[in-house]
Amino acid sequence: MSSFHTPVMLKECLRYLEPQDGGVYVDATLGGGGHSLAMLEAQPQARLYCFDQDEEAIEAAAQNLAQHCGQVDLIRANFSGIRTELALRQIKTIDGALFDLGVSSHQLDCPERGFSFDNDAPLDMRMDGTQKMTAAKAVQELDQAALAKIFKEYGEELNAGRIARAIVTSRGESPIVSTGDLARVIEKVAGTGSKESLKTKVRVFQALRIYVNGELDVLRAALLDTINILKPGARIVVLSYHSLEDRIVKNALRDMSQECQCPSRVLGCSCGKKKLVKILTKSPLVADEAEVRTNKRSRSAKLRAAERIQGES
Ligand SMILES: C[S@@+](CC[C@H](N)C(=O)[O-])C[C@H]1O[C@@H](n2cnc3c(N)ncnc32)[C@H](O)[C@@H]1O
Repeated sequence: MSSFHTPVMLKECLRYLEPQDGGVYVDATLGGGGHSLAMLEAQPQARLYCFDQDEEAIEAAAQNLAQHCGQVDLIRANFSGIRTELALRQIKTIDGALFDLGVSSHQLDCPERGFSFDNDAPLDMRMDGTQKMTAAKAVQELDQAALAKIFKEYGEELNAGRIARAIVTSRGESPIVSTGDLARVIEKVAGTGSKESLKTKVRVFQALRIYVNGELDVLRAALLDTINILKPGARIVVLSYHSLEDRIVKNALRDMSQECQCPSRVLGCSCGKKKLVKILTKSPLVADEAEVRTNKRSRSAKLRAAERIQGES
């Protein structure tokens, strides 16, 4: 696999997806196409609909999947549009779907994308380069309370309020436009050189990234939409990389695995909710030691999978 991104828990994803000859699959988060390529190598006659909102991912995957180009549709779109995009292509049901959430190594490692404080670069953080909101815009324009809320909710950062205040003070003196500018403001609160200071920067950068890309906003609806179009027996596999994401995945799968959710005091069911999936991973799977040793990104990965059962969507 190229240096663009090394696919995480590849064996496990394939084991749960069980791609079939001639089946129709969705890769909701194409990245460099590593998972898609493995699916096509396992089943060259499978048909894949692959989504990514990042133009650079689409370009890298197009090269990586060139040998299988007849079997693949590369769709540059947010996965919130899965159902619509598939309907436009006359696809009403699918045989499986993979969500490998978050950012790719390429996005994180490419200084110009502004996701990381390892290099000084424009504070961008957009997966979709056409959207208006950037991290610099957020840091420059949001008020102190809104910034603190982002750092607290998306970064679980204990110093959220102090960091937000430091940002507002600092931008009054000179604009915060680069990853280095932001890192220096965080250091004013968290200090420099310590492990804790590093972790604070990681949490604040992660929080901003989640906000800028609306990462958690569309996830639940996209999972439900996808489950609704799975054929009976088809599976959804989701890899998440932090607890906020994993909680949404866990709750969405659990909700779809339960019947009626009427309050227990109500006699009889009025909601009519049907159980749509069986959960295949009681606890999430994690990467094995060998993988964690060779790919540090796999360290935080959690894999959850569910299988569609009969039931009307
Ligand atoms: C972890 S990477 C996927 C890596 C991929 N499985 C591989 O093997 O190369 C996640 C990718 O999903 C994309 N992505 C994240 N959220 C998205 C969303 N809501 N809609 C579309 N693409 C998204 C990112 O741009 C990134 O390229």
